[in-house]
Amino acid sequence: MAVRGIAIVGAGRIGRLHAVNLARIPGLRPVVVADPAPGAAAALAAELACEAVEDWHDVVSRPDVDAVAICSPTSLHVEQVVAFAVAGKHVFCEKPLASDARGADRALEAAEAAGIVLQVGYNRRFDRSFAAVRETVAAGRVGTPLIVRVTSRDPEPPPRVYLEHSGPSVLFLDTTSHDLDLLRFVTGAEIVAVSAQGASLVSDDARELGLADTAVTTVTFDTGAFGVIDNCWRSAYGYDQRLEVHGTDGMTEARNELRDTTDVADARGFHSPPLPHFFLDRYAIAYLLELKAFAAALEGDAVPVTGQDGRAAVAAAQAAALSAAESRIVRLDELG
Ligand SMILES: NC(=O)c1ccc[n+]([C@@H]2O[C@H](COP(=O)([O-])OP(=O)(O)OC[C@H]3O[C@@H](n4cnc5c(N)ncnc54)[C@H](O)[C@@H]3O)[C@@H](O)[C@H]2O)c1
Repeated sequence: MAVRGIAIVGAGRIGRLHAVNLARIPGLRPVVVADPAPGAAAALAAELACEAVEDWHDVVSRPDVDAVAICSPTSLHVEQVVAFAVAGKHVFCEKPLASDARGADRALEAAEAAGIVLQVGYNRRFDRSFAAVRETVAAGRVGTPLIVRVTSRDPEPPPRVYLEHSGPSVLFLDTTSHDLDLLRFVTGAEIVAVSAQGASLVSDDARELGLADTAVTTVTFDTGAFGVIDNCWRSAYGYDQRLEVHGTDGMTEARNELRDTTDVADARGFHSPPLPHFFLDRYAIAYLLELKAFAAALEGDAVPVTGQDGRAAVAAAQAAALSAAESRIVRLDELG
């Protein structure tokens, strides 16, 4: 197997995780990290024993770069996907692919014209329980899906500096888009309309910046079934990640993972261990599996989360933000 050189663009929370995972995958080798924050690229590159640069433009045409992991802020994704695609580099792009459907279309067009692999980082598809729910539904064991429920609550809001550099739809694009993708993944159905309400209930930063930190989003699928997502950037008991599909013949659910499998019983009842604190713990295996799938896609396997999947989640998230802003149901075909 040829060893493929990978560039990592963005050395923040997720860039660091992906870089370390990429270094563990046979056939892939991180060759350069790009990040303009002082010392950020150098620190990560030192761990990986590879090069560091500040300006991502400097790595686009490097002959030793076969593919890129784009882990920069969302507002840069489209421009970077397009540039790397035009240079003939394969792209793993963190979610969301773009800030709106139009941007996603630009990224898709460039990827298709160049014939590159484009995979989007919806890591929850690689979680063992969510994948099992999909298999159960696809096998017809719960009959026809009628209502799909996703609960996705974060232990804390993103850092203020992150919120200051994000757009007004950040809750829907960053958080809800994961759940919208999960709805499509487990049902195999397309979202055609979205209704959402959002509010600032738990974060002073979000309130001061005019951002929602809590939201309920309802979708209609092309099958006529419904999906319901509840999101909150405060969960006092850890990272709450649950999924349920209610169908004509039964119900299947994915419960939370716990820190370990022990229980303690005493006179007050049975007590379980806490939930994983946040995404880096909860989805550690899923993050590795998605990059192994990317490596396999570079060798010719099917891309498990395509640019079209990325576009569909962005369009639904954009519709949710518009619905919340205008207090109305938004059909996805309105977005063009
Ligand atoms: N799939 C997931 O579970 C998941 C989790 C977290 C973040 N994300 C996504 O990953 C992206 C980054 O999020 P994060 O939490 O790592 O943010 P972060 O703020 O921790 O890191 C972003 C990094 O990008 C760097 N950066 C800024 N401008 C850049 C440029 N022009 N070129 C290269 N790098 C640049 C910043 O200096 C910073 O180091 C976002 O799109 C976010 O939605 C996905």
